[in-house]
Amino acid sequence: MSLERHTYPTAQEAARACAHGALAALEDALSGQAVATLAVSGGSTPKAMFDEMAARSGDWSRIHLFWVDERAVPPTDPQSNYRLAEEHLIRPARIPHANVHRIHGELTPQAAARRYVDEIREFFSLGTGELPQFDVMHRGLGADAHTASLFPGQPLIEDRDGIAAAVHVPQLGQSRITLLPGVLLAARHTVVLAAGADKAEAVRAVFHEPYAPSRYPAQMVSHHGRGVVWYLDAAAAALMD
Ligand code: 6PG
Repeated sequence: MSLERHTYPTAQEAARACAHGALAALEDALSGQAVATLAVSGGSTPKAMFDEMAARSGDWSRIHLFWVDERAVPPTDPQSNYRLAEEHLIRPARIPHANVHRIHGELTPQAAARRYVDEIREFFSLGTGELPQFDVMHRGLGADAHTASLFPGQPLIEDRDGIAAAVHVPQLGQSRITLLPGVLLAARHTVVLAAGADKAEAVRAVFHEPYAPSRYPAQMVSHHGRGVVWYLDAAAAALMD
């Protein structure tokens, strides 16, 4: 289990370090291939990371942007993960439209998931049963230790074969579309950004509680993912040794 953890005094510094870590991994990927793929999460924490990524010069013409998950809402909705990235990364970094592979949250969740899986299969030229390997995967952490849109008790936490699915999140009364664990685990490099005192217990549980991914979904990747690097602020790391 390759697990790196870095703690910074403030959320801003953690976001900046995470942005640099993701960009460095993308540049490394681009040194050996024509294009690189980045899958990003949503919520509120990534805003500062997106701003930092957009501020740094990067060859975005060779980077294709995907999402780890999306709310079942239109792209203009304030809840939309695409909208957050569009405002803080895509537009300021001038990422070409052809490089942006959003999840169509305006469709029904099942239709959005089907469409996203088809787009991923086509982009990665996947054969039957094959999974995409993203170069860089950005994940967040919920206060309940969820990651992507895999919340505690979600049966798909055990799935290792699927690419993406529509899920209903009873804790939120909301439907989402999410990449599935097999894809999260396959990423070449994963950055996890968590900040704020409300994440401290989840961070402690992920690192110190016995492996129980149904209860602590973020453990499924942090215990098995490759090249996983955690970026925390002091508040989120407050319960760590
Ligand atoms: C989402 C995210 C989700 C997020 C966590 C943390 O769609 O909400 O992808 O997995 O990373 O919920 O969200 P915050 O950054 O808002 O705390």
